[in-house]
Amino acid sequence: MSPDHNFNDSQKITQPALGLSDLLVSESVARSVRRKIPERVTNAKGSGAFGTFTVTHDISNYCKSSLFSKIGTKCRVFTRFSAMHGEKGSSDAERDLRGFALRFYTEEGHWDLVGNNLPVFFTKEPQHFSEYMRAQSPDASTNLRSAAKKWDFYSAHPESLHVLLMLMSGRGVPANFREMHGYGTHTFSLINRNSERFWVKFHLISQQGAHAFNGGSTQHNFAHIDLLSSINTGNFPKWTLAIQVMTAEEAKTSRWNPFDVTKVWLHEDFPLIEVGEIELNEIPTNYFDDVEQAALSPANTISGIGLSPDKILQARLFSYADAQRHRLGLNAEQLPVNQDFSSPKYHAMDDVAQSISFKPDQYDNEGDHYTQPGLFFSKVLNDAERQILIRNIVEEMQQIEGSDAKNIINRQLCHLFRANIELGMKVATGLQVNIDANMMSHSL
Ligand code: HEM
Repeated sequence: MSPDHNFNDSQKITQPALGLSDLLVSESVARSVRRKIPERVTNAKGSGAFGTFTVTHDISNYCKSSLFSKIGTKCRVFTRFSAMHGEKGSSDAERDLRGFALRFYTEEGHWDLVGNNLPVFFTKEPQHFSEYMRAQSPDASTNLRSAAKKWDFYSAHPESLHVLLMLMSGRGVPANFREMHGYGTHTFSLINRNSERFWVKFHLISQQGAHAFNGGSTQHNFAHIDLLSSINTGNFPKWTLAIQVMTAEEAKTSRWNPFDVTKVWLHEDFPLIEVGEIELNEIPTNYFDDVEQAALSPANTISGIGLSPDKILQARLFSYADAQRHRLGLNAEQLPVNQDFSSPKYHAMDDVAQSISFKPDQYDNEGDHYTQPGLFFSKVLNDAERQILIRNIVEEMQQIEGSDAKNIINRQLCHLFRANIELGMKVATGLQVNIDANMMSHSL
């Protein structure tokens, strides 16, 4: 009989006092179960590296930041690459935007360029952002991503067509992080010593070239592994930082609203100007400390680099610090990867406030969601790339199911026709949809 059977209700159970070793065990168990922090609400899966930025060209006529004051100036950088919608366990082969977030540790403070691998975005209106995020999230009942939800959003928001065509092309699944370009995506501003303001787009051009994933790797985390192994073997990846510059006068007569994040600035009108070179040459010694706990934000900027009236950029200003207060706590800024050692600390707030309060001119073709996607299809892609794009669109649209499937497909076909007739025709043929006069009339 066990000793417990000797107890009756009237007897007191005396528990042995907790010993120091029990407390230590509890503490170690508690540390183990509390070892994770909330993941980023988007861009959860990522890889990071440190490196160096070197100024190679003089842009001091556009920008007063000490970073750009002379050729040869260097600063430390941190980069985090990520998949926008993939969960932490997602495959690097998923079709998705890739985040390309860069921090420059300058002597005037942090300048964060929190961009993507595609130069445009899905919406120009912050009020559509949560609808967009819902469309990309798993279905409430199946917990699986749903083609119907995604294409319902795309077809209801034709301003998404431009980035959608890029995403469905080979660029939607890059070979790895080294072989992809990066873009600040939004329009920012540069302010020079005479307080003149220039509108600017930032580009990060991969010196490894931009290549699409060719299905060669069976490794789930191949892009992460590629980054680690190339840096570990001294094959340091490099990007050229370049800018497109638009003057205030040019902005007034621009064919498209220069603050619309669904549009690019054509390179023939606004050629690339080289600024410097980024080299990634150092793997973080502790992934959790440096990559997981990095708190990057478009609101982190320095004197001489301002923002713009781009509404999506403005919506992002509050959102990142807010997410990080939840994800990392109030002291996130004191974590080593986030610490700002600049001295003295300059305040870029005047430059930021000026560019945010700027009231842009009216542009009468705000509803033109088709010309630029059409140019991407007919001028940027070559013939083989066009066929891949069409195949990818057909394969995805074939998965649209549910009672509204026919409407979604017809709406989206109209958008494709309006961008380019060949594109609309070939997708419709691939989907075995009969083209009706109504659909065709949209393209004329
Ligand atoms: C209204 C629009 C947007 C909102 C509200 C938003 C919000 C957020 C939030 C809350 C995070 C997580 C931040 C963190 O926990 O550290 C995040 C991450 C990120 N976002 Fe956005 N975002 C928006 C649009 C964009 C756009 C247009 C881009 C690219 C041009 C972008 C690029 C990124 C990247 C790269 C990350 C990951 C940063 C990192 O690696 O730490 N986002 N976004």
